[in-house]
Amino acid sequence: MHLYLDTAIVDEVREIAAWGVVSGLTTNPSLIAASGRKFEDVIQEMVGIVQGPVSAEVTSLVKDEMIAQGLELRKISDHVVVKLPITPDGLAACKALTGQGIPTNLTLCFSANQAILAARAGATYVSPFLGRVDDISWDGMQLIRDIRLILDTHDLKTNIIAASIRHPVHVLEAAKAGAHIATMPAKVFQMLVKHPLTDAGIEKFMADAKKFK
Ligand code: E4P
Repeated sequence: MHLYLDTAIVDEVREIAAWGVVSGLTTNPSLIAASGRKFEDVIQEMVGIVQGPVSAEVTSLVKDEMIAQGLELRKISDHVVVKLPITPDGLAACKALTGQGIPTNLTLCFSANQAILAARAGATYVSPFLGRVDDISWDGMQLIRDIRLILDTHDLKTNIIAASIRHPVHVLEAAKAGAHIATMPAKVFQMLVKHPLTDAGIEKFMADAKKFK
């Protein structure tokens, strides 16, 4: 399972990408708004740091405008993946962009049926939102399992991005459920690397290293 960083904070991208484990990035309009920066500037800087897919979300809900925005975003870099909501217009825009060889990420996926639609529209990626499903007391991980089973059964090539990840158990379970990618905030990357026994082991080894001749 590949690991993506979900952020619009460029310093976070620099910090976590330096670990050498980040394959790509996702962002969304809420993250861009919270950054206080211009959308295109953030995407431009992010693609320069991670040489991998960077999902940038359109802000229109009208098919032709979505396609136009997607084409504009692709001018920034070939790494840009056009992120589209799963709506009738979003699916149609996905189909059109796919026809032009442009990668897409169909977002705000909350059901396996929506994932089937995304796959049939030719989506490169579909993003089920685990945390938001769990928030309403449904089972986000079962959604990932169902989507993976359907994609495999019908030989559909869309990749699952487990999104809206809130904690390390989401990452572990998404990997076991067959998500191709997990995208998460920097704070979850920090939680993944931490282990009290690693800290205790380092403290002891460093103390003992001072005793060498
Ligand atoms: C992914 O593409 C989304 O940007 C993100 O995972 C949403 O996460 P949230 O539900 O924590 O806002």
